[in-house]
Amino acid sequence: MILFNDRFVSKEEVHVSMDDRGYYFGDGIYEVFRIYNGILFEKEAHLERLTRSAEAVRIPLPCSLTELERRLERLVALNGINEGTLYMQITRGEAKRAHPFPEDTKPVLTGYCTEVTRPMKAMMEGITAVTLPDIRWLRCDIKSLNLLPNILAKQEAVELGRGEAILHRDGIVTECSASNIMIVKKGTIYTHPANHYILHGITRALILKLAEEASIKVMEQTFSLDELYGADEAFICGTTVEITPIISVDGQPVGNQWDKLKLGEPGETTEVAHVSQPGMITRTLQTALSRYIGISN
Ligand SMILES: Cc1ncc(COP(=O)(O)O)c(C=O)c1O
Repeated sequence: MILFNDRFVSKEEVHVSMDDRGYYFGDGIYEVFRIYNGILFEKEAHLERLTRSAEAVRIPLPCSLTELERRLERLVALNGINEGTLYMQITRGEAKRAHPFPEDTKPVLTGYCTEVTRPMKAMMEGITAVTLPDIRWLRCDIKSLNLLPNILAKQEAVELGRGEAILHRDGIVTECSASNIMIVKKGTIYTHPANHYILHGITRALILKLAEEASIKVMEQTFSLDELYGADEAFICGTTVEITPIISVDGQPVGNQWDKLKLGEPGETTEVAHVSQPGMITRTLQTALSRYIGISN
């Protein structure tokens, strides 16, 4: 079942107009919630961010927050989702194409659930990443439908066979195409301050809380590409990726490295590969997050 404004309908019954401003301009906002054990994880934080995004782009919520919450919970229940995600978006509504806000239009709300399991393999083994310039606008704190720069960056990563694109502005790392990033140096976690250059990740905020509880020092401070390359540990975080270690950046291993010898036949050259594995603090935080979620590792 799909949430379509105030109704729950089949996909075939969802009729969104070609004149929807989401279609013309990406004029809308969205949220992605994680569902664990049939419950919307960090629901209040997501609803709060949705409200902030809506206010920032001046799209009125289609109903009260309590009613919206009721609809989202009903959507999860109707679909019988135990472990998955809920995607929802609100566009400014339907109107003849023109840049200014239309006068008489109602926001259009759509939402659906998908069954998704936790990305155990990536969380255990880590992923590789590529760095790319952050070419986005200056309000990355708004969870807007306009994701072209993110899509382009992710596609470039995919074409290079990498798991994620790490974005930077003039050498300062901001976040990733669809996640936040943190590095660890000498036992301290560094992550970009929650300002207009990054999305204020719900997982990011939770990790900062969990780190504090585990007496791990956190600095909400910018770091450079060189500091990323020289980090002891690095990981991405987000609703679906949770805490996923980064094991190499731009082909260079991150953190814990050792040389792996591949011995050839006598007389042949010996191959040496630098390999990397997820670090201790990353592992500690993964365990803390799993506990918090209520799922043991
Ligand atoms: C650009 C970007 N940054 C960060 C995040 C992580 O945010 P959250 O932890 O709220 O999922 C996302 C999630 O989709 C994202 O798209």
